[in-house]
Parts: sequence; C-alpha cells; structure tokens
Amino acid sequence: MTQSGERALTRQLERYYVRFNDDFWAFFADQVEPLLPDAPVLADLGCGPGLYLRDMSKRLPSATLIGIDRGDDMLRHARTLTFAGATPTFESADVAGRLPLADGSVNLLTIAAVMHTLEDPFSFLEEARRVLAPNGLFLMYDWVRVGFKQYIDFRVSEPGDPFEVRYPRALELFSTHNKYTADDWHWIFEEAGFQVAQEAWPFPRAIALLMRPL
Ligand SMILES: C[S@@+](CC[C@H](N)C(=O)[O-])C[C@H]1O[C@@H](n2cnc3c(N)ncnc32)[C@H](O)[C@@H]1O
Repeated sequence: MTQSGERALTRQLERYYVRFNDDFWAFFADQVEPLLPDAPVLADLGCGPGLYLRDMSKRLPSATLIGIDRGDDMLRHARTLTFAGATPTFESADVAGRLPLADGSVNLLTIAAVMHTLEDPFSFLEEARRVLAPNGLFLMYDWVRVGFKQYIDFRVSEPGDPFEVRYPRALELFSTHNKYTADDWHWIFEEAGFQVAQEAWPFPRAIALLMRPL
C-alpha cells in the first residue's frame, strides 16, 4: 500500500466513530430499522474500510450486504472484517457511473461522506432510483457548509491526526467539505424527485436524510 493510501485508510478507521456515533445509531434504530423488511438488502456506496457494513451486520444479521468503493486499499481492509451475519459482497466501482446493482434490488441504499464529491448529483440519483426496490429507502449522510472559522475550529477539536497534521488538512479540505448547505441538499433531492421522510444531525456539521423516490 502507498503511504498516502495507508494514511487515508488510517484516517477512515479513526474518524468513522466521530460521525457514526450514538446519535447516529439512535436515529438508525428509531427511524430506519422499523421501515426495513425482514432480511433486507443493504448497499453502501463508497463503503471505505467497511465499518458501517460491519455495524449494520450486528444490528441486522439477516441482511444481505453489499459494499462498493473504488479504493482497492479500502476494499482490502473491508474484506478482513468479521461480520455478524453473512459476509458482504464487495465490488470495486465508481459510484458516479452505472452502479453494479440490479434494477429494483436494494431495500436500503446508503451513501456517507461521498455525495458532495460527485460532479453530477442528478445522474447519480437516477441510478439510485433505478436500483431501489419498491418502498426502498435512500440514506444520505454528508457534510453541510459552515463558515471558515467554524470549520477550522471543528476540525482542530475533533479526534484523529495530531494537531500539526490536522490544521493543514482542515485548510486543504475546507472547500471540498463545504460545498452544500442543508437547503442545497434538500433542493437537490426535491429536483431529483426524492421525498425526505426523516432528517437528523447526528454530527454538528453533517446531515442525515432518509428518503424515498416519489
Ligand atoms: C470519506 S470516505 C467515507 C467512507 C465511509 N462511507 C464513511 O462514511 O466512513 C470516502 C470513500 O468513498 C470512496 N469514494 C469516493 N468517491 C468515490 C467514487 N466516485 N466511487 C467509488 N468510491 C468512491 C473513497 O475511496 C473512500 O473510501
């Protein structure tokens, strides 16, 4: 693995717990789980090192799990994890293109901390609509724009890299993470014909929206 690949993987492993915290799992248990069928099919787009799929497997051991990522180092790590239920299928693919998922096949499609990077969110959402089963749910969890000072303050107070790395990293990521406001996210989904069923803020600068296609 290259040094930068190793750093990206270490960061993902450390920072996962910051966002997938108790508030996130309370939201998941109260608002998402009750809407899922028995033995659901769950796909995670940009699954990174697989920790979310591992945690969902503990909650929903009868689920079929699919993880998709374009990072081979991420997928390699995900394949080493132990799952409470069936071992997921991991696929290497660019989620900005055609998803390697059959039409109408997914009960819960999740994308976390990836959608802000997609140049064309609307063509992606057409693909999301294609692969969702009837009554399927789409869960997006992603960054929301905050002011420069607020962003830097947040980043330097969060766990992860040592300060001397965290500060320049915050400067580097500011423009990437601060693309859409909460209203922008709502507008994107409205334009694409998705109806928001639930909204939550498990982490101060990230929004979770649970949706269904209209
Ligand atoms: C910030 S990490 C988020 C990982 C995980 N979803 C989470 O929330 O902890 C972004 C992940 O998405 C993957 N990724 C980014 N853009 C992608 C794309 N267009 N297609 C597939 N994977 C992508 C990266 O390789 C990385 O593993």
